[in-house]
Amino acid sequence: MSGEGTQPLLACRNVSKYFGALAAVSDFDLDVHSGDVVGIGGPNGAGKTTFLDVVSGINPATSGDIRLDGENIAHTAPDIICHRGIARTYQLNAGFDSMSIRENILVGAAFGQGDKGIPRLRYSRSMHQRVGRALELCGLQDKAHLIVRSLPVLDRKLVMLAGAVATEPKLLLIDEPVGGLNPHEVDDVMEIVSGLVDAGMTIILIEHVMRFLLQISKRVVIMHHGEKIYEGDPQGLLSDQRVVEVYLGKGTAKRLQHMLAERGGND
Ligand SMILES: Nc1ncnc2c1ncn2[C@@H]1O[C@H](COP(=O)(O)OP(=O)(O)OP(=O)(O)O)[C@@H](O)[C@H]1O
Ligand SMILES: [Mg+2]
Repeated sequence: MSGEGTQPLLACRNVSKYFGALAAVSDFDLDVHSGDVVGIGGPNGAGKTTFLDVVSGINPATSGDIRLDGENIAHTAPDIICHRGIARTYQLNAGFDSMSIRENILVGAAFGQGDKGIPRLRYSRSMHQRVGRALELCGLQDKAHLIVRSLPVLDRKLVMLAGAVATEPKLLLIDEPVGGLNPHEVDDVMEIVSGLVDAGMTIILIEHVMRFLLQISKRVVIMHHGEKIYEGDPQGLLSDQRVVEVYLGKGTAKRLQHMLAERGGND
């Protein structure tokens, strides 16, 4: 459960990432406790993906402190960060095209766990069990034999997600899980990510599709020019003047307020 007063699973302090003179992420603070589901939104170029890049070690922070379970990982290599318990998906689909769905996810299951001295030639029973669980959680159990190259965009996104889930991460980072999908597919992914939340996963997700972001996240952060301009509950963001000004616009804020009110009435 998320808990004030306990040590955060992830603690980011004054994290900055510069590309030349551009501060893509600027003095950014974030605490994530076990069981949290934090949604990050904000305009294009706000620094959302760059933040996930520095947390996952893909692109190290220029300055600042990033702690996982109290240990500084700000300058740790991405493979080691994965072994320590942070897995992620990417904004653009990535996968092993010539391999099946099951084989793709097996790579995650084998990579994320245990000691890493020697590359594995054999997959253990527990790895296959993790694959089975990830396939089920991501709704891919009936398609496991299909070759990834031939899959539609939705399934490719789910394969990437399942590969990350199969590492059994302490913290799962998801970058735009529904970008480019139609409304029906958005609903499908929403159900799957809700299932991950129900299974107790701790998640940071980035999304532009606001109905997804607002309904899945327990807490929302809005970034603008690398800085945090809002952190709080999903409802509060819709009446935050700065967020409405720089990101949502009045019309969208109103529409989303209606959506949340209706959903609250139905629950
Ligand atoms: N490798 C890089 N080299 C130089 N500039 C970069 C690099 N990666 C990102 N940037 C710049 O950093 C800023 C933040 O980019 P980032 O991709 O993090 O934004 P974002 O919030 O994820 O946007 P989007 O919603 O479009 O995905 C942008 O101005 C981008 O052009
Ligand atoms: Mg991005």
